[in-house]
Amino acid sequence: MQRIPVAIIGCGGMGTRHLFGLAELERAGLNPFDLVAVCDVDPERAERLADEAERRLGRRPTPGTDLAEAQRLGAAAVDITTVPQFHHSLAAEAIGLGLDVMVEKPVGLTIAAGQQLAQAIDGSDRILSVAENFRRDPMNRLVKALIDGGVLGEPRYFHQSSGGGGNLMAISVWRHMKNESGILFDAGTHYTDMMEYYLGPVESVYAQMRLFEKIRYNPAATGGAPASNPSGVYGQSQAGMPAEFEATAEDALYAMVNFASGAIGQYAENRAEHGRDSWARSVHGSAGAVEIPKDRSGQALVLTLDRTRTYTGTEILPLVPDYELDDATAALFGGPRAAAYGLDFETVDRLLLAVEYAEFGSAINTRSKPEVGLEEGMRAIALCYAMMESGAAGGTIVSVEDVLNGSVSAYQASIDAVLGTEA
Ligand SMILES: NC(=O)c1ccc[n+]([C@@H]2O[C@H](COP(=O)([O-])OP(=O)(O)OC[C@H]3O[C@@H](n4cnc5c(N)ncnc54)[C@H](O)[C@@H]3O)[C@@H](O)[C@H]2O)c1
Repeated sequence: MQRIPVAIIGCGGMGTRHLFGLAELERAGLNPFDLVAVCDVDPERAERLADEAERRLGRRPTPGTDLAEAQRLGAAAVDITTVPQFHHSLAAEAIGLGLDVMVEKPVGLTIAAGQQLAQAIDGSDRILSVAENFRRDPMNRLVKALIDGGVLGEPRYFHQSSGGGGNLMAISVWRHMKNESGILFDAGTHYTDMMEYYLGPVESVYAQMRLFEKIRYNPAATGGAPASNPSGVYGQSQAGMPAEFEATAEDALYAMVNFASGAIGQYAENRAEHGRDSWARSVHGSAGAVEIPKDRSGQALVLTLDRTRTYTGTEILPLVPDYELDDATAALFGGPRAAAYGLDFETVDRLLLAVEYAEFGSAINTRSKPEVGLEEGMRAIALCYAMMESGAAGGTIVSVEDVLNGSVSAYQASIDAVLGTEA
């Protein structure tokens, strides 16, 4: 089959990590794409990514600056990995140009931004895939099989609590700026996608939200070790960021979540934690509970049934006869029924991004809807903003539907004013 000419738009950290994913797919003999262009508003970044692509894929894509140029260079599809504030408008522009699109999460920086994209795609036959990688982790596929197969009984309770970061910069300055996507939204849209992936739609939420650390510090600016540098791709840009700056985005969110099924969730995300970094996620049902390792950690699930019988790793497999990974995931993660895979973060990160590309390629070739499209992407941002809208209002109960249809949007209003997406 002919390869699909694709361009990466946004050559920062995630653009680089997406290239690593494409290279994994190439190595596995599963790459349906030909990377023809890499574009960034900063031409130096595009040049650097083109060099890296040549090293990893054996062919140098042409560096460029924008979407239209990517199309002139032959791209039929684009992978948008820019900062979040441009996702909706770039995806809409690409669809207008007749390109198929994969866009990093969040699909829009606000609901109104996402709605503008929805209008642009209405009636179009172009593919829109939202690059949501966490649910593609085989361990999350296995959790889903446990829930759907009834092994946990009737799901009753979801719990997630994570903390870390203290007063240090989380990867980049924009992750602390409300109008550019604070860290609660940046990380939170992954987690809200996970909640609905596991347990179905959420109806309403109640939350408290705080901005604890008003000044953030970036040790990389003064020659120190970067505070957080996933997959090792952010060091150079962090060195050029300020050593300290004022944060405008909140950094802690504590929520109660009501699923339509009747299950309840508790969610705590504290990015200003001065104790040890912490992580806990579990799903509890009428027959048992599963403890779930951090996404991309490569660790095994721990399942307990009837309070006493504990299963982990391959011991879980006989309980889920229907558990079967898709072909690309199976090829990359060591088989169709992977139960634990013990790989480091960098490797898992690359492999999951490879899986995303494989699915995008298959959606293009078969003209089928990707697993995470506009609807799922919009629900993930709506649930995250429902918690933040509630927290900003001091803890009122907020319906996800009201956020999704734009009738609750007070917290997002200042972001929409900057984006130019106000109603
Ligand atoms: N799925 C994941 O695990 C994951 C991890 C990290 C980041 N992300 C997402 O990826 C996106 C990018 O994050 P990042 O960490 O790479 O940020 P980054 O700041 O490292 O890189 C963003 C790049 O976009 C470029 N850019 C900005 N506006 C542009 C435009 N209009 N056209 C072309 N290029 C433009 C910037 O110059 C920069 O090089 C964010 O939406 C983030 O949420 C996802």
